[in-house]
Amino acid sequence: MKKLLIAPSVLAADLGRLARDVQLVEKAGADWIHVDVMDGQFVPNLTMGAGVTAALRAATSIPLDVHLMIETPERLIDDFVEAGADRITVHQETCPHLHRVVSQIREAGASPGVAINPATPVEAVREIAEHVDLVLVMTVNPGFGGQPFISTSPGKVRRVRDLLEELQVDEDVRIQVDGGIGIETAPLVVESGADVLVAGSAIFGAAGGPERAIRELRAACAGD
Ligand code: DX5
Ligand code: ZN
Repeated sequence: MKKLLIAPSVLAADLGRLARDVQLVEKAGADWIHVDVMDGQFVPNLTMGAGVTAALRAATSIPLDVHLMIETPERLIDDFVEAGADRITVHQETCPHLHRVVSQIREAGASPGVAINPATPVEAVREIAEHVDLVLVMTVNPGFGGQPFISTSPGKVRRVRDLLEELQVDEDVRIQVDGGIGIETAPLVVESGADVLVAGSAIFGAAGGPERAIRELRAACAGD
């Protein structure tokens, strides 16, 4: 059983005080920092790029987990690695030559992941699963923080887990979930096989502060 990892999404942080917020969650025990990159094309929102990633790199020493919600991600992968990205996840839906892009990420020195949208079938990652280190199952439609968790997601996570077991790569490939993750929904996906939780509003927007939110998230999943 892999250790459950928590990756706060800085999309929900105070963007004017990004360094302070990232240091806060690092101190609170976050495992990775999740960086949501949106291009206004693949998803209807525009966020941060390699420049902000470099600023995050200067502010923290924990791994930067960059989620590229952009068309033609191959054009920017080297920039993100240079900026300090440790892990890069691309969407299956944006990559007709997915194996090439995944290889490019590894050759550039980062750990590759592949993401699938809620309506993309699990079978879409069958042929790439053994080439990546992580499969990201989107539990909302990507584009915005603070959206409600899609209730059919735990079943999908379970089908990804079954696929990884069938391919005998379940020891090597992590399952990440992203969107609407909080103390109510996290246990459902962890029980189904997820081992990396991305959470934005549930951590940075928590009334009791990020430290308590991270502690409560872990505690909520501890029995699974
Ligand atoms: C959604 C992003 C998420 C988002 C999660 O498009 O990929 O990482 O920030 O936000 P919450 O946890 O608020 O749903
Ligand atoms: Zn994300």
